[in-house]
Amino acid sequence: MSEDIRSRLEEICSRTVKCLEEAANSETLNEIRVAVLGKKGELKELMKGLKDVAKEERPKVGQMVNEARDLIEQNIAMVRDRIEKEKMLYDLEHEKLDVTLPGRKAEIGHRHPNQIALEEVERIFVGMGYEVVEGPEIEYDEYNFTKLNIPADHPAKDEQDTFYINKEIVLRTQTSPVQARVMEEGKLPIRMISPGRVFRSDEVDATHSPSFHQVEGLVVDKNITLADLKGTLQEFARAVFGPETKTKFRPHHFPFTEPSAEMDVSCFKCGGKGCRFCKGEGWIEILGCGMVHPHVFEMCGIDPNEYTGFAFGVGLERIALLKYEIDDMRLLYENDIRFLKQF
Ligand code: DAH
Repeated sequence: MSEDIRSRLEEICSRTVKCLEEAANSETLNEIRVAVLGKKGELKELMKGLKDVAKEERPKVGQMVNEARDLIEQNIAMVRDRIEKEKMLYDLEHEKLDVTLPGRKAEIGHRHPNQIALEEVERIFVGMGYEVVEGPEIEYDEYNFTKLNIPADHPAKDEQDTFYINKEIVLRTQTSPVQARVMEEGKLPIRMISPGRVFRSDEVDATHSPSFHQVEGLVVDKNITLADLKGTLQEFARAVFGPETKTKFRPHHFPFTEPSAEMDVSCFKCGGKGCRFCKGEGWIEILGCGMVHPHVFEMCGIDPNEYTGFAFGVGLERIALLKYEIDDMRLLYENDIRFLKQF
């Protein structure tokens, strides 16, 4: 009987050791361990036969089984070591890191075309001695309209054009109210520009947005004339659109200036011959301007007999769209980094 068990043990041991040698991963290793040493494993099954063994032989047989178990356990431990080493080598090989490769750059955004245009406008006027002043986006009706000589029945005051917060307070529809604020402060002479956001109750399309940006300009001093206005704005146009740029002043009407004009620049694509870009005109409208209206001076506490001045307002988006030849204003508000990165 004990001989029978011995030969079965030998067979189990040699088969198991062979299987272990071939085991390639810890799952297979575990399966082998359970099949031989587990609760329902081959060794446990064999132990059940112990009761049929003669009493005096039992210790010997028990010892044989223990030796077989020790042998298998030692082999399992060895094979586990081998598998772990193999896995480590595999991982080292496959997770190899080339520390000399350049890192992956995080996208941190990009300067917006509006911002680039604004910085250019500011640079030009600051270079001419202007100060940059900011005013509130939420503004009194009085500054946005009344003090700028815009009468109560002016179409711009219609709710269709203006966002009213209440009867007296609006989202400013232009940066011109900053003129009134600066003049009221009474520090003369004045040479300022005021960039900022304005709001109009417009539907969004390729050329309109309910919120856009303007840069206001104001000069007040003794003996300021229309020639100063023209010279300054010509200089500005050449700085933005190139030294060959010609300018043209067309009579226009703004309530807060008299006389008023719109300034066109010669098309910088075709030099004025007429092309698709300027819609065959040769000229592109750029800004509104004029000599400060005496009523505005009076309402803001400046004596129009002593002082004169000029003012202008330019759309920042318009400058950015023209300079970068962007044909849809909506692109400026989407902040798609792939678009912004082009400028
Ligand atoms: N505020 C005017 C607008 O939004 C632009 C403008 C025109 C501003 C003439 C001025 C100016 O200061 O003198 O259309």
